[in-house]
Amino acid sequence: MKHPNPRAGILDVEPYVGGRHSIEGVEKVILLASNETPLGASQNAVKAYRNAAENMHRYCDGHAVDLRKSIGNRFCCDPARIVCGAGSDEIIQMLIRAYAGPKEELIFSKHGFSIYPIFAIGAGVTPVAAEETDLTADTEEILSKVTDRTRLVFLANPNNPTGTYITKNALAKFREKLREDILLVLDGAYAEYVTSIDYTSGIELVEQNENVVMTRTCSKIFGLAALRLGWAYCPPAVADVLNRIRSPFNVNGPAQAAGIAAMEDQAHTERSLAHNEEWLPWLSNSLTELGLKVVPSAANFVLASFGSKGVAETVYQGLLNSGIITRHMTSYHLPDCLRISVGLENDNKALVNSIKDLVGKKNG
Ligand SMILES: Cc1ncc(COP(=O)(O)O)c(C=O)c1O
Repeated sequence: MKHPNPRAGILDVEPYVGGRHSIEGVEKVILLASNETPLGASQNAVKAYRNAAENMHRYCDGHAVDLRKSIGNRFCCDPARIVCGAGSDEIIQMLIRAYAGPKEELIFSKHGFSIYPIFAIGAGVTPVAAEETDLTADTEEILSKVTDRTRLVFLANPNNPTGTYITKNALAKFREKLREDILLVLDGAYAEYVTSIDYTSGIELVEQNENVVMTRTCSKIFGLAALRLGWAYCPPAVADVLNRIRSPFNVNGPAQAAGIAAMEDQAHTERSLAHNEEWLPWLSNSLTELGLKVVPSAANFVLASFGSKGVAETVYQGLLNSGIITRHMTSYHLPDCLRISVGLENDNKALVNSIKDLVGKKNG
């Protein structure tokens, strides 16, 4: 029988595996699977969202002018170079569609965010994985993968799921060595959590170069994951390209209103950051004390190795049985690992106690 067929390669796409949000039969689950903020959104953002519902029969501002102004104020950058998207996922997809095509290549680091190869394959672009060193992006390895066909390099900094980052100096040197016709995309989804002074999200690199774009999200520290709101800071020519191909009302009105309120509520994100600064080290240390290998993280989650795929699976399942959802890392080629988001105090403690029981049982 004849039937419509998708373009060649589309069926090679492995669908994105997101974090679970429920466990059958469990009413109150502890969600530590998707790196969301445990403190929720700013109450001002919630109010703005509710108020915006009154206007849902009207089209929103397709240029998100006020939102871009608020982002510009918050991050000291030029609103004219900001492009907003329905999550940074949409921006990532637009950048790939706009700057690469069939028979061309996109480089990412081996354990980089999985959406890069997914969107690449969907656009007919070949994703090329570069080896890492100590689960950290290795810029020399990335450079060694550059060919005539390379169009984009994606670098999540800090990276998901490893939590590792490369320094400001390393990033600047890398940019210098990268061919000028290759677009370097710095994905700063977790940038607001990083406190090290040798870190940069890359705003200045965007301002100094024609081939650097930074993407950011409101899904993490701003607590607006369900609204789908992200943004890119671009050289003017790249902003122009994204504005040509994006759908005209890609960021919905309530998301714009909530985004503006969230940007203006600095106290809320400061609380979230303070919470993370307290509980990220606590979580890392507690898991290390249980004998696990924990990758040093600059973000709001940790990657912990249980030594083998079998133990990681047993612990993952055992945690589910206790109502705790973490993220198993098989799809990231790290089958011995779980990625665990920083939660509220009681949730972090419940997690560590459950793992202690499970690992103890395994060893005993
Ligand atoms: C590194 C990284 N980039 C981008 C995203 C996408 O974020 P969103 O589409 O919610 O803005 C995520 C989400 O987990 C991420 O971890």
